[in-house]
Amino acid sequence: MNVVFLSPGFPAEMPYFTRGLAQVGAKVFGVGDQPAAALAPEARESLTDYLQVRNLGDEDGVVQQVTQWLRGRSVDRVESLWETQMLLAARLRETFRVPGMTVAQTVPFRDKEAMKQVVERAGLRVPHHGRARTSAEAWAVVERVGYPAIVKPIAGAGSKDTWRCNDKDEFAAALQKTRHVDELSVEEYIDGEELTFDTVCAGGRMLYHNVAWYRPKPMILAQSPWISMQNICLRDTSIPMARPGVELGGKVLQALGFTDGFTHMEWFLTAKGEAVFGEIGARAAGARLVHAMNYASDLDLFRGWASATCHGHLGQEVNRKYNASMVFKRAQGDGIVRRYEGLQQLMAKYGQHVANLELTPIGQPKRDWKKVVVGDGWIVVRHPDLQFTLEMSERFVTDLRVVAE
Ligand SMILES: Nc1ncnc2c1ncn2[C@@H]1O[C@H](COP(=O)(O)OP(=O)(O)O)[C@@H](O)[C@H]1O
Ligand SMILES: [Mg+2]
Repeated sequence: MNVVFLSPGFPAEMPYFTRGLAQVGAKVFGVGDQPAAALAPEARESLTDYLQVRNLGDEDGVVQQVTQWLRGRSVDRVESLWETQMLLAARLRETFRVPGMTVAQTVPFRDKEAMKQVVERAGLRVPHHGRARTSAEAWAVVERVGYPAIVKPIAGAGSKDTWRCNDKDEFAAALQKTRHVDELSVEEYIDGEELTFDTVCAGGRMLYHNVAWYRPKPMILAQSPWISMQNICLRDTSIPMARPGVELGGKVLQALGFTDGFTHMEWFLTAKGEAVFGEIGARAAGARLVHAMNYASDLDLFRGWASATCHGHLGQEVNRKYNASMVFKRAQGDGIVRRYEGLQQLMAKYGQHVANLELTPIGQPKRDWKKVVVGDGWIVVRHPDLQFTLEMSERFVTDLRVVAE
């Protein structure tokens, strides 16, 4: 099976998906903007061929270059798991007439307004919302949705330019701060916990699903440099905290007509226990969440996705063994990482439940958490019991200090 895979080297998870494709027997034809020599070894060693294009954003140009490059070879799949390349992948599929999502099916996964309209039409709960190209339009929408409200870019990512507004003054300030954004989404602010619902599907069947709990909310994290993020994959997705999202998520996939591949949905759990839709991507979660899912069930979902995509099954049995909490640390202070405080005690107490521990090595500069998602540390703790997992996770947040000076 010949698979064209876009951007096999970036973001950080893509080399593993590339390797997964090769492991399940596919010939992988990579297309990216990096030089071949810059690709991570997992990607380089798994590719049958690689085409470096000048600019992945130039869709017409890429379609033309790929067509020339592949002349005489058959194409069975065109895949991408990077948000910005979803539409390009769909165009290539249409060009080569291969199965998978078309441009029309992809648009509602990219445009947050179109997305919410489809989900809303299916009778599912989304925040009251509206699109705004001008300040007058924004005021008209907030009039309708009320306060507190959220202002964010319609094609946003990583909580960039996202603001909560409690009243008119804050709303006016948020409009000032987002003047450089072409198009805004103005929404009702949903109070509650924020979780994900992730799936791998094939032929319309859900082969794998996951619910992860963000602590704190991504928006808060993006605005607070000192917070360590916790992302907890829940072992039991039938608990009251997870079930509403699983139910909502299944219906959202149906409404969007999604059948094959990875999905990553975000949703809110209100105090009343109601699930409210946030957003969804037709791709795998970023920020190492796939690694965390793997740790929760001792799976290789990089290969599992590849198997689902090429063969229609996961090729692995899913045993939901652990809750897995992933903690990203941000070093305290500035400059060079000099020491780790509290690590020995934590390892003495919880070491056997630590599935992964990577900290910025002593002597290296503190990392810029706005550029490096894991910041100065990436820790995974896991245990079948949720309370115990949360307790351990919290300890790594508060008792472990990566100190830069
Ligand atoms: N309607 C909303 N109510 C409450 N919080 C929201 C709302 N919309 C966005 N947020 C917060 O902002 C973050 C970023 O928004 P999101 O729509 O997920 O965009 P992206 O992840 O693409 O930047 C969310 O993870 C959440 O913390
Ligand atoms: Mg989001």
